[in-house]
Amino acid sequence: MKSAILATTLSAIFALGGCAGQGNTNPTSHTASSDTLTNAAVNIESGKDYHSFSNPEQISVTHLALDLDVNFDKKVISGDVQLTVKRMQEGNNTLVLDTRDLTIKGVTANGMPVPYSLGKEDSFLGAPLSITVPEGTNKVTVSYQTSPQASGVQWLTPAQTAGKQHPFLFTQSQAIHARSFMPLQDSPQVRVTYSATVHTPKELLAVMSASNDPDTARDGVYEFNMPQPIPAYLIALAVGDLQFKPMGKRTGVYAEPALLDAAADEFADTESMLEVTEKTYGPYRWDRYDLLILPPSFPFGGMENPRLSFITPTVIAGDKSLVSLIAHELAHSWSGNTVTNATWRDLWLNEGFTTYLTYRIMQMVYGDNRYNMEAVLGRQDLQADIDSLAADDEILAIDLRGRDPDAVFSNIPYEKGALFLRELEQKVGRDNFDQFLLNYFEHFAFQSITTDQFMAYLNDTLLNDYADKLSSERIHQWIFQPGIPQGAPVPHSNAFKIVDDARNQWLNGELQAKDIDAKDWVVHQWLYFLNNMPETLSQDQLAELDAVFDLTQSKNNEIAHSWLLMAVENWYEPALPRVHSYLVSIGRNKLVKPIYKALSQTPKGKVLAQKAFAEAKPGYHPLTVKANEGFVD
Ligand code: BES
Ligand code: ZN
Repeated sequence: MKSAILATTLSAIFALGGCAGQGNTNPTSHTASSDTLTNAAVNIESGKDYHSFSNPEQISVTHLALDLDVNFDKKVISGDVQLTVKRMQEGNNTLVLDTRDLTIKGVTANGMPVPYSLGKEDSFLGAPLSITVPEGTNKVTVSYQTSPQASGVQWLTPAQTAGKQHPFLFTQSQAIHARSFMPLQDSPQVRVTYSATVHTPKELLAVMSASNDPDTARDGVYEFNMPQPIPAYLIALAVGDLQFKPMGKRTGVYAEPALLDAAADEFADTESMLEVTEKTYGPYRWDRYDLLILPPSFPFGGMENPRLSFITPTVIAGDKSLVSLIAHELAHSWSGNTVTNATWRDLWLNEGFTTYLTYRIMQMVYGDNRYNMEAVLGRQDLQADIDSLAADDEILAIDLRGRDPDAVFSNIPYEKGALFLRELEQKVGRDNFDQFLLNYFEHFAFQSITTDQFMAYLNDTLLNDYADKLSSERIHQWIFQPGIPQGAPVPHSNAFKIVDDARNQWLNGELQAKDIDAKDWVVHQWLYFLNNMPETLSQDQLAELDAVFDLTQSKNNEIAHSWLLMAVENWYEPALPRVHSYLVSIGRNKLVKPIYKALSQTPKGKVLAQKAFAEAKPGYHPLTVKANEGFVD
């Protein structure tokens, strides 16, 4: 099949390295939620961060100055963080920071030791660090070190990298893991600027979510500056045998040497994406936009660390078929990094807006056909979640009190959020909606906002201007009710019609697989073909598809994912060795978790899952371990 032919053989160097081996309140508004539609939600305090111990409404941190040493032998980052604080309330001298598994060595304020205490550890929030900040002082320095088990820091051995020669380190702070990397107010409503000096082994390069100088001398001492105020979850560091290759005027890619050219080719359209997004939604406010390609254990597809998105290598397919991920992380530069969710309940403001923008960017760069196909696939992913999630978890402004945000990850904030915006767009017209979004990014630039603030803004703008087309009842329904409102937009793709026909005819026995005219199908059509197969297929049917289309050997990680999931659900043995190699070579949770889950449903599947998990675990990120260990008990 086309994708398999076009795909590179990079998977060979993607091995994970089977080498063995209650929170506080917010500084802004404290209104009760405007929601009156769902009972459970009425007591949620809008804007209250239930996932941070910090007290920014009393004393707020405005700048971090980091001086860190990266020690690969001990797997610890150690050093000092100097926090510049601002008093928000008279007479309150206690600064509360978030921490998790940090060793605190000492705390000073304007150079003098001050009292501090580490509170009781919560299972997923970590522990509060309370520091007395004497009147007249505003620079608090904490000397600390991370734990080798830090939830937001992954240490990779050389065997777990593409080049096999050097170790690698990367951080992943979203949602609440920055606190395992440094003590800080780990709430998305606290925005800080930062500067950093990072010491590494001489042969390695450090990069951060900040100014990166592509021409920096590789001498083991690296300086960074992030002059725009950002939330803690966007602070990021990676260290490895990295090289840089420019892709455009403002865009480039950092990767291990073995991946650099393939990555630069795959993502060559990044500069165009940046240009069309600026044209439609207003200026890019972050100077450069570079990509960092991580080893395959990176637990996400991508992470929108400002100026430097972190990207899984599993999307380097050889044919640009999976580059909507880049559009997505780039779009976060507007929705997420410029206008930020104030609490994790408001995540849909980041992900829903970004998913909407992603579709639009893809359309602008690649055309209507691709836009329609991606929209249909996204709508199907959403439906799958609606069919399986509890009603409360289908609500955009979700109630996360007492819950670990990592455990609540789904398509709802992404695809339901995007579908809601698509409906607004269709009702008011695309140009008007684009203008609304451009104004929204301008109005809330560098602020962290709640769902209620968004709704108030919508009320003052679109609802006011298009009272005949929009209603606040409908908007409430989208934001506070489970499911998808009746009459929601239905994406449609003509390119999928022939795929439906082929699938149906094959299933009815009217057409043999070898007679399906699929030579021109693109990856999206293959995904649509596979994802819409009935739950049960016979061994003969699976074998026929595999023989004709070589699906077990697909080099496209998304196609392989869909196929291997079908193979597990129908226990198609010839694909099981590939299931194993897939699970031990990829750590991206979205790709491996459904497979572990499917395997865990049967005793023989569980045995396979246990074997793969045991082999892969040393190379998995802590988040991937946590998300899947329950399937192999
Ligand atoms: N910011 C997210 C990743 C994230 C969300 C981490 C919530 C932790 C908590 C990132 O932008 C993202 O959405 N990644 C997706 C991309 C996909 C939807 C194109 C992923 O990793 O799969
Ligand atoms: Zn995202």
